[in-house]
Amino acid sequence: MEQPVIEVNRANVTFPTNNGPFTALSDVSLQIQKGEFVCLLGPSGCGKSTLLFSVGKQQKLTSGEIRFGGQPLHEVGAFHEKVSIVFQEHALFPWLTVQDNIQFPLKVKKLPDKLAKETAEHYMQMVGLSAFRDRKPSQLSGGMKQRVGIARALAMETEVILMDEPFGALDAQTRSALQEELIAIWQKERRTILFVTHGIDEAVFLADRIVVMKANPGKIKEIVPVELPRPRDTTSTEFVEYERRIKSLLHYEIMSAQRAGERPA
Ligand SMILES: Nc1ncnc2c1ncn2[C@@H]1O[C@H](COP(=O)(O)OP(=O)(O)OP(=O)(O)O)[C@@H](O)[C@H]1O
Ligand SMILES: [Mg+2]
Repeated sequence: MEQPVIEVNRANVTFPTNNGPFTALSDVSLQIQKGEFVCLLGPSGCGKSTLLFSVGKQQKLTSGEIRFGGQPLHEVGAFHEKVSIVFQEHALFPWLTVQDNIQFPLKVKKLPDKLAKETAEHYMQMVGLSAFRDRKPSQLSGGMKQRVGIARALAMETEVILMDEPFGALDAQTRSALQEELIAIWQKERRTILFVTHGIDEAVFLADRIVVMKANPGKIKEIVPVELPRPRDTTSTEFVEYERRIKSLLHYEIMSAQRAGERPA
């Protein structure tokens, strides 16, 4: 078996709170292969973002380790050249145009101007925003803003892209259009994608493997490989069967997370 791009080994993350330490991630182990599309799915508060940000080096583990290409994270030089992140709240610069938002990190990376421009152009076209290149974020729809965020992450040309509910705030139609675009781009460019979502249908549509998590403390409950050909037909019996299976895995977790939340402190 090939060396995984990302290896999470027995990761724990504990936060100090007024009621004492709170375990957000407990004994999480996960391996992700190059080019894989992996979705993290689970109830609110089960540690999806914490796990994603730990992989993105933005959250320190309390114990355990994460390796990137076989190396401990802290030893990976120029990490920002290997991993990019797309947030739910498309963190765009409001004063920059679409083109400049996509180009900005390339300038930071000190890419020569011409190359930065060509690269931004390529990905701007890929997400269908060329006609809007001169607009500011405030002049774009939510879906367009997400496209800018995705184009910016793609333009970094990192091996791994981390996405935290990037389509969470969009209407169903825009979301489904962007899911299809993302898969088409991923099939063309073969990046490794770790994608957080609340949506069962979204996970079954996108993922090679779905990491189903549970809350209190945040743990992996089960990893479900989705063995469906692409492009996936969301109306097929097999697709619906995956949805049903994952829903029943999650149902129990959502109920028990709610019960824990209702308990008086
Ligand atoms: N800095 C912090 N201090 C204390 N607790 C925290 C901190 N960050 C996160 N938590 C807690 O850790 C748990 C996991 O949080 P996390 O944001 O990873 O959940 P999530 O699965 O991404 O949830 P959601 O689906 O709502 O985004 C939550 O219970 C949260 O309250
Ligand atoms: Mg989250």
